Amino acid sequence: MDTPRPIIKTIDLWKRYNTDEESFALRGANLEVYPGEILTIFGKSGSGKTTLLNLIAGLDRPTQGKIEIEGNDMEAMGEKVRTELRRKRIGFVFQFFNLLPTLTALENVLFSLELIGKPDKDSALEALSSVGLKGKENRFPFQLSGGEQQRVAIARAIVKKPSIILADEPTGNLDTATGEHVLNLLVSQCKRYGATLIMVSHAMNTCRFATRIINMVDGILVEDRSTGDCEV
Ligand SMILES: Nc1ncnc2c1ncn2[C@@H]1O[C@H](COP(=O)(O)OP(=O)(O)OP(=O)(O)O)[C@@H](O)[C@H]1O
Ligand SMILES: [Mg+2]
Repeated sequence: MDTPRPIIKTIDLWKRYNTDEESFALRGANLEVYPGEILTIFGKSGSGKTTLLNLIAGLDRPTQGKIEIEGNDMEAMGEKVRTELRRKRIGFVFQFFNLLPTLTALENVLFSLELIGKPDKDSALEALSSVGLKGKENRFPFQLSGGEQQRVAIARAIVKKPSIILADEPTGNLDTATGEHVLNLLVSQCKRYGATLIMVSHAMNTCRFATRIINMVDGILVEDRSTGDCEV
């Protein structure tokens, strides 16, 4: 039987934002994620979680090290190919939702399909409906609650049916009950489409949904624990 191949692999990843600084945000982060995993990377503020996600998404470049997405070396491909890979294969859910304020919920979701040349309104409507926003498609972000905005962001990420979803503190700006609801939706949508999910968080609530938990400490991924050990 073939050994399963990681869908995401980082090899000795280092990141320093300013060359005149001594400190590194990442200090040799090694990670292997397999298809269908729901991974929580858990760590204190400033430990390098956002930096790691941004590098995996190709939003920023490492100072040193290698990232492979579906076996493709992110450094070896040019900027254009990297952008295309990100748009097609990766959905990103941000802590502050990052919806376009001048577009309605529907237009925000549709926009992510337009970027990959597939502006299918029915798919966008279906995605919004699947996160419980039927009837609110034409509202602008400012007319939606925080939880609703994050659900639009989830719809926008899943509508492309990407193989990877990266979520940076997906509940960081939501109250506990809304956060639970949003997490449930995010995880169930990923399972529905067979997407691999990486959530980074400093909140324990994301651990409950994870098939694997990794700790990030000072730019290094240190510990792997089974879900059973995670106390909420
Ligand atoms: N654009 C930047 N320029 C310079 N330093 C940065 C930049 N972004 C992050 N850093 C630094 O890199 C380190 C890791 O930051 P990062 O945002 O990855 O942490 P984090 O784990 O996501 O924290 P939080 O839980 O607060 O979101 C921190 O020391 C931070 O100050
Ligand atoms: Mg962060």
